[in-house]
Amino acid sequence: MTAHAASPVPPGGTPDLTSSFWQGLYDEGKTGWDRGGPNPMLREWLERRVLVECGILVPGCGRGHKVVALAEVGFRVTAVDYAESAVNSLRAELARRGLDATVVQADLFQFCPAAPFDAIYEQACLCAIDPGQRSTYAQSLTRWLRPGGKLFSLFMQTGKPGGPPFHCPLEEMWELFQTGWKWVGEPKRVEHPAGLHELACVLERV
Ligand SMILES: C[S@@+](CC[C@H](N)C(=O)[O-])C[C@H]1O[C@@H](n2cnc3c(N)ncnc32)[C@H](O)[C@@H]1O
Repeated sequence: MTAHAASPVPPGGTPDLTSSFWQGLYDEGKTGWDRGGPNPMLREWLERRVLVECGILVPGCGRGHKVVALAEVGFRVTAVDYAESAVNSLRAELARRGLDATVVQADLFQFCPAAPFDAIYEQACLCAIDPGQRSTYAQSLTRWLRPGGKLFSLFMQTGKPGGPPFHCPLEEMWELFQTGWKWVGEPKRVEHPAGLHELACVLERV
């Protein structure tokens, strides 16, 4: 994940994370986070039936390979992103495949769904948000999920200051998702083609 050329970033610092910043990365093809297909962990969760057909939210969906993968196997997916080209590309891909999903172009910090979801699939969105806004984002995740619903998260590990992507150390994630959450099973390491890795975790909203 590299910075937008129009938004110089001080070493270890934070660019101005707006929709234009992200749109700029898509325009310039600087989308190192994009595997070009679903995360192998999503496939594993689906195959093991840890994640089963339900109403699911995908925040910061990007081009949304996971949205396509989930819609293909019968999930009722709502995907949110504020970068126009990401949303357009996802809508086009869904249409091309004759699949149905609700794709919303909106700022997640303004997003108020009519009803909570059964599950949330969080991949490379928390690490894309300014760490100063993490607790607000975590509160939104709690609000967007029904009690008993599950958060399927891939916590990005960079081991470095600055971003995006911002490091999501497990100790901090335990703090962030402590009250109102139960951690299910053990974190699993997932390699990322950008040379980083993610920790796949399942959390239940109690
Ligand atoms: C690193 S990309 C990851 C995209 C996708 N989840 C993936 O793994 O391919 C982060 C995405 O989050 C979106 N995003 C970041 N902050 C957002 C916000 N406040 N509201 C909506 N989308 C946001 C960006 O536009 C971008 O598409």
